[in-house]
Amino acid sequence: MRVLLIGGGGREHALALGLAADPAVESLVAAPGNPGIAAVAELRDVAATDPAAVAALAVEVAADLVVIGPEAPLVAGVADAVRAKGIACFGPSAAAARLEGSKAFAKDVMTAAGVPTARAYPIADAAAAEGAAEVTRALDEFGAPYVVKDDGLAAGKGVVVTDDRAAAVAHAAGCGRVVIEEYLAGPEVSLFVVTDGEAAVPLLPAQDFKRIGDGDTGPNTGGMGAYAPLPWAPPGLVDEVLATVVHPTLAELRRRGNPFAGLLYVGLALTAAGPRVIEFNARFGDPETQSVLALLETPLGGLLHAAATGTLAAHPPLRWRAGSAVTVVLATAGYPASARTGDVITGADRPGIIHAGTARRATDGALISVGGRVLSGTATGPDLPAARAAAYALLDGVDLAGSQARRDIALAAVEGRVGLPS
Ligand code: AMP
Ligand code: GLY
Repeated sequence: MRVLLIGGGGREHALALGLAADPAVESLVAAPGNPGIAAVAELRDVAATDPAAVAALAVEVAADLVVIGPEAPLVAGVADAVRAKGIACFGPSAAAARLEGSKAFAKDVMTAAGVPTARAYPIADAAAAEGAAEVTRALDEFGAPYVVKDDGLAAGKGVVVTDDRAAAVAHAAGCGRVVIEEYLAGPEVSLFVVTDGEAAVPLLPAQDFKRIGDGDTGPNTGGMGAYAPLPWAPPGLVDEVLATVVHPTLAELRRRGNPFAGLLYVGLALTAAGPRVIEFNARFGDPETQSVLALLETPLGGLLHAAATGTLAAHPPLRWRAGSAVTVVLATAGYPASARTGDVITGADRPGIIHAGTARRATDGALISVGGRVLSGTATGPDLPAARAAAYALLDGVDLAGSQARRDIALAAVEGRVGLPS
């Protein structure tokens, strides 16, 4: 099978490694890719959010399967354009990707499907006088901590969770369309589900670390680290989420005539009242994918192709490596507020280093930083402490001036400090 992979971040590097390792994948093209992906795929340039351009490239490289990594192309309708050419595509239609593209749409689907989630008020224009009044009413009804979400795509950075009411009001006013919601207390879980719209195959549950600072302090980021599986997860968690969240959501989208085929990312809080959905995404999470796919033994290309062709029910059960995986992200100085770029990176050409915001300098081919989250170290081990030590050892071999990484990824789980609220 000939595969075209769209995207160029850490998630796509992890997907590329999985696809390249699948004996059924005879050629892999990535667009735009990155210097890490270049080791396992032919790179092509494409405007990833241009449906016609991606569809034309898929035809040109005679792809049997297109895999779309990031959300922006999905929301822009790239999967629809590829399928219109008769090419199988892993990734939902624009209509189904609204599950990620609009928080208000996601809430509407969840309400209709009876899916447990935070109570929420969508507000059409928080900058207008009437909207501002609705914002303060909603904030005061729910109380602190306040949760204020930009309605549209914001790469994980449009959400503010704060005890500071003035900061919550200010963020809402800056967003325009906004959702104010009830705070959900409890550890977070990312559950990835491969689906063809009807059949649903869960991957190992993972946890990611959204805040920039150790001890979950500072602003939200795209994700600073991850690990899988979750030693503290209650038995039956995955089955419960399939029954209460995934299948009702897929059924509601089928009922609306917009079946969701691709990767349904369920972001959950395990509250005292049970699992509650924090968010849906329409694609693999980053950096959880780096950890989850490091443990997947089943060939990735065959799995994604089955989802893209509506044959997932006939796919054999997934096989997983024993043990754990940990991913630690290295970010530039100033991230997430800003990203210092153009610094030389050394020590990154090793297995387990997953590239994201890296590029080759035109003048001399040196590896340089070009994005906030530059790369990550992903390692597996017989258990979580071993995987964690190996991931940090990998990252400690990388040199990038002014870079920052959290030192506490998976630490609370290793120390048995992740508890479910009672
Ligand atoms: P989202 O983009 O919706 O995933 O939000 C980003 C992060 O904000 C989540 O991973 C949570 O850490 C936090 N968050 C979002 N919504 C809530 C909520 N209702 N209660 C508690 N934390 C939340
Ligand atoms: N790890 C969070 C995300 O991919 O949205």
